[in-house]
Amino acid sequence: MTRKVRKAVFPAAGLGTRFLPATKAMPKEMLPLVDKPLIQYGVEEAKHSGVQNIIIVTGRGKSAIEDHFDVSFELEHLLETRHKKDLLATVRAVSDMIDVAYIRQKEALGLGHAVLRAHELVGEEPFAVILSDDIIDAETPCLRQLLDVYEFYSAPVLALMEVPHENISAYGVVDAEPVAHNGGRDRLYRIRNLVEKPKAADAPSNLAIIGRYVLTPEIFTSLETIQPGSGGEIQLTDGLKHMLRSRPIYGYKFEGKRYDAGDKQGFLQATVELALKRHDLGEDFRRYLKDLKL
Ligand code: UTP
Repeated sequence: MTRKVRKAVFPAAGLGTRFLPATKAMPKEMLPLVDKPLIQYGVEEAKHSGVQNIIIVTGRGKSAIEDHFDVSFELEHLLETRHKKDLLATVRAVSDMIDVAYIRQKEALGLGHAVLRAHELVGEEPFAVILSDDIIDAETPCLRQLLDVYEFYSAPVLALMEVPHENISAYGVVDAEPVAHNGGRDRLYRIRNLVEKPKAADAPSNLAIIGRYVLTPEIFTSLETIQPGSGGEIQLTDGLKHMLRSRPIYGYKFEGKRYDAGDKQGFLQATVELALKRHDLGEDFRRYLKDLKL
């Protein structure tokens, strides 16, 4: 029987060098998109996908993330005495949302290493991984889409997206064959091989791995077995490649729009598009943008 995925791991210990100096003292996961930090979008996606426990792997600036998901008695008291009921509800909704546990990755030794740090808190059960700088705007949360595939095949599932040839070397890329699923052949793939950041000429396809994964606990053994790759980092892609020797891995081309909010262009695009979608801001913001006459 398929075991239910109860936990989601959020690696948030990267250096965030593309966003310096903003990330000098604060993790990039706390950068706000409109009025919510990036990581809150991911946590909400996990919750709406049916996950009950969040495990955040932190590096520097851990306290900003912890404080965000914790109760702020002082702030709540102040809002209460000033009769700011709506704001109080907004603040409380964050701390009441879900159970969060933390584990430290002392040195940024790679995404695979960050996932391995969560082994003890995950235990021997399937789990999700969410990279919160990939913001995915979708009708059905992206993680839910992956979990539907996982619940059918009881095998690991990676989020895939078609990427233009000239950008492919920024991603983990898969060699994969389409699989008939739900009466269609256009979204589900069985992975044949994975390559981390290939040169465009060597890329096995235009299908890139995006930051949502459903994994089974065998990944921990694979991550412990493999050698560090370039820059001494333990890559999750290399761990997946190792695991592929002993079990099938699927990829799912999710429905929805993804923004790379860990990159300045992607961050700006996400800010503009998400603001335009907001009921409280969209109309005025659209008018403002039109007036710019670009
Ligand atoms: P990135 O590849 O975006 O790296 O990490 P980064 O360090 O965060 O950012 P740049 O490239 O220097 O600007 C992908 C995800 O993996 C996490 C990051 O926090 C991010 O969510 N990560 C990466 C870790 O938790 N630990 C690591 O050692 C590396």
